[in-house]
Amino acid sequence: MEKFVIHGGNKLHGNINISGAKNAALPIIAASVFAGDVCRIENVPDISDVRMMIRILEFLGAEVAKPEPNVILVDVKNVTPVTIPDKMTSKLRASYYLLGALLSNFGKACVALPGGCYFGVRPIDQHIKAFEALGATVDVENAIVDVKADELYGSSIYLDVVSVGATINAMLAAVKAKGLTVIENAAREPHIVDLANFLNSMGADVRGAGTEVIKIRGVEEMHGCTYSIIPDQIEAGTYMVAAAAVGGDVTIDNVIPKHLESITNKIEDCGVTVIEYDESVRIISEGGKMKACRVKTSPHPGFPTDMQPQFAAMLCLCNGTSTVVEDVWDNRFKYIDQLRRMGANIIVNGDTALITGVDKLRAAPVEADDLRAGAAMVIAGLMADGETTVGNIKLIDRGYENLVEKLIGVGAEIARVNFEEE
Ligand code: UD1
Repeated sequence: MEKFVIHGGNKLHGNINISGAKNAALPIIAASVFAGDVCRIENVPDISDVRMMIRILEFLGAEVAKPEPNVILVDVKNVTPVTIPDKMTSKLRASYYLLGALLSNFGKACVALPGGCYFGVRPIDQHIKAFEALGATVDVENAIVDVKADELYGSSIYLDVVSVGATINAMLAAVKAKGLTVIENAAREPHIVDLANFLNSMGADVRGAGTEVIKIRGVEEMHGCTYSIIPDQIEAGTYMVAAAAVGGDVTIDNVIPKHLESITNKIEDCGVTVIEYDESVRIISEGGKMKACRVKTSPHPGFPTDMQPQFAAMLCLCNGTSTVVEDVWDNRFKYIDQLRRMGANIIVNGDTALITGVDKLRAAPVEADDLRAGAAMVIAGLMADGETTVGNIKLIDRGYENLVEKLIGVGAEIARVNFEEE
């Protein structure tokens, strides 16, 4: 079993290059089924969730080539909407994007319920509501979602909650529906804009992505394109927080600073210097004793829930008591027990964690409870003196390309060790 072994305490100096965004790459790869021929997709992160999405597409009949690192050529000429089994969908949440994409392109899709990180109940009622609004019938039996329509018709879809996944599935289902679809109360994350740009590059007519109202006029035909995925907001944020927490001077390259504003603001609230350039951000931090702060997660442009665990790890050494409110998921504090093993002083009450800064974190064996919780453990390990091991790192590999190499590049001591071989 592989683990990360971290010797904490080193300050970080240098540059980290950010990969393509996981949460943009996954729907974009699913959406390539619309092309009818070949799409060249660039800046694709080499992470296990993306590899799984490619396997699902190949299972449907696509041919996927990798002519150079982080570039894929997806040929979807032979794709058919066969049932996607649980053993594939249980690995990642984004497998449900094939529901919207296959439904719109072939009039039917049969996809086992998705897996992904557990943050409490993860319903798909808003996805189903969107499909039904467009005229599809949806049956869920034996944990398989079966959705079909003779014809899809544009419609008005009001999402009762701001959902990234439901917004994306509604967009995918609508691109070939007859007439105009209006999605209201849409999520506004950068990856939604990226998906819209990709769909438009293939000939779709999607407007308003990045606002609360997305309008889609259905088209009959779409075509292949060349497209480059945006940088990963959460990967960038993770390294920004790592640099702030541990201390040093780190420049995070290949980012869109605008996408990072909510994270930048909160890091600055803690007394850390953040300098924005056109395509990079620089973090200059003493590390350790920064100011406590209050952070509440919310949909974009608010503070991302996917940065909550990493930020909480940083707050463990800040002066005073910080407040972290989780307002998106109902069960996203499980990892806090792991931080407590390292000496953190945290009280959780419902959706709120009160983190009182301690002098030091103690190195300890800890586990990644999920993808971002795992990233938080890596940050805590970098903050602690001594040797921390982080187990269950396959969850971290789902979303961070070359994490070990990137951290070593800025002076961290971290290694991937196979404990079975020892
Ligand atoms: C995506 C991200 C995930 C991130 C989340 C919020 C991917 C692959 N995953 O997940 O990392 O934490 O956005 O930024 O992109 N909800 C409903 N009904 C639905 C759908 C959602 O009630 O049909 C609720 C959820 O329970 C949650 C909230 O809406 O409380 C937000 O969920 P959503 O934005 O859909 O998250 P995901 O798209 O699953």
